[in-house]
Amino acid sequence: MIKQAIIPLAGLGTRLLPLTSVFPKELLPINGKPGIEYILDECIEAGVSEIIFIISKKKEMIKKYFNNDSFYKSIIKKKKDPRIIKEYKKIHFFRKKIKFVYQNKPLGTGDAVLKTKKLIKNDYFLLLLPDDLIMKKNCSKDMIKIHKKLKGSVMASMKVKKNNVDRWGIYSIKKNIDKSNFKISDVIEKPNTKDAPSNNAVIGRYILSKKIFHYLQNQKKGKGGEIHITDAIRRMILNQYLFIGHKFAGNYLDCGSMKGYIKSGIEISKL
Ligand code: G1P
Repeated sequence: MIKQAIIPLAGLGTRLLPLTSVFPKELLPINGKPGIEYILDECIEAGVSEIIFIISKKKEMIKKYFNNDSFYKSIIKKKKDPRIIKEYKKIHFFRKKIKFVYQNKPLGTGDAVLKTKKLIKNDYFLLLLPDDLIMKKNCSKDMIKIHKKLKGSVMASMKVKKNNVDRWGIYSIKKNIDKSNFKISDVIEKPNTKDAPSNNAVIGRYILSKKIFHYLQNQKKGKGGEIHITDAIRRMILNQYLFIGHKFAGNYLDCGSMKGYIKSGIEISKL
């Protein structure tokens, strides 16, 4: 049963400066709605009942956004605008499902995930990276179905341009399970073009076993001096844990770069 999701939100968002100099990137509007709400919609629709936000002191505005009850209540009292009431109900609904933990030093996604160790109840949980939006088809829901069937960890994937592999975690396939699911034999964080085993990239949706915490606890720093979730996954794969690459069916939007962020708004407005 996948009932909990983790969303790392402590990143600095430097690729989106100047927009992120005082404002968390996850609250930036994408076609009239903060990016994070697309991710939350995906989680809820996939059956998740608890979402753990990993924030930092610098990103407390995210907590405030979901915790601004008194502000909404005073506005609604004065002005019975049905649109505001509806928005408040939605935010309140999300708030009841969110827990906050802190990662005050930007030491990487692996370190962020480790901060949630004590809160994870079941054997498997979902991890969503908020820069990656997947529209039209619920990727998390599809991955949960695959996990139920094959009983392993699952990572979303897509093919990327060969000269762009150094932007992604890249994996190699051991065996095709069917046309959109593959057994993974190795994964490397942001390899050079010449070292990349393929152009199959990991996209920000993972179903992970609780056992990952054991690996993260002694995970050494990797690329850029950060603790990468990919490096802990790699060690698990080498220790024979099953990891499946899932070629997702939805439309991928990269909201973490300025070009991608602008494009996301345009693409979503056309859906
Ligand atoms: C992270 C992961 C990387 C993955 C990517 C997907 O990188 O470390 O393996 O391919 O997300 O978006 P980041 O975007 O944090 O640089």
